[in-house]
Amino acid sequence: MGWELGKPRPILVEFVEKGLIIKGKTLDLCCGVGTNMIYLAENGFEVTGIDVSKKAIQYAKAKAEHTKAQTNFVIESFVDLSFRDEEFEFIFDMGCFHHVETMDRPTFIKGVYRVLKKGGDYLLTCFSYKNGKAWNHFTAKQLISLFSVRFKINEVRHYSSIEGDGVKRYFYTVWMKKK
Ligand SMILES: C[S@@+](CC[C@H](N)C(=O)[O-])C[C@H]1O[C@@H](n2cnc3c(N)ncnc32)[C@H](O)[C@@H]1O
Repeated sequence: MGWELGKPRPILVEFVEKGLIIKGKTLDLCCGVGTNMIYLAENGFEVTGIDVSKKAIQYAKAKAEHTKAQTNFVIESFVDLSFRDEEFEFIFDMGCFHHVETMDRPTFIKGVYRVLKKGGDYLLTCFSYKNGKAWNHFTAKQLISLFSVRFKINEVRHYSSIEGDGVKRYFYTVWMKKK
């Protein structure tokens, strides 16, 4: 798990500590082993995590049981999103969108839009072009073009991070609100 920092993502902590995100019903897309969602739950968010990996969810559940965090888990793919329309006030996506196959991007974006409340926040972090050319390494221009039809873009941030495997990788974080 090269991505796992063993602590919540600094970008998420920053947004929460600055009070930029309303504490409400939250979806952690591709929650992995649950580090970010447990942090959110411990800080007053009502969080559901989805991941396609049964193993990741089992691990996340076991971790959550050792905390006071109230969490929900669903094993499903990000192309399915079996939630009600406008169910969530906040959608957190750390390293999820860059796993979406090119042909599934419209379905994914439509799904995120559907389950997010109007005016709700979507905080997306994905690989940057600066990691080298690849189908899922994005430029700011690409991200804006993909999301700006349905979302109002508040901020696009480009930065590097030393990941769990000790490798420096470049990311974009896009903070947007559902139009
Ligand atoms: C880079 S990890 C990020 C995990 C977590 N967000 C974090 O920051 O620690 C990507 C996660 O996406 C999950 N994933 C991959 N394809 C998926 C799909 N189709 N639907 C849901 N989750 C998926 C993987 O199982 C993995 O846990």
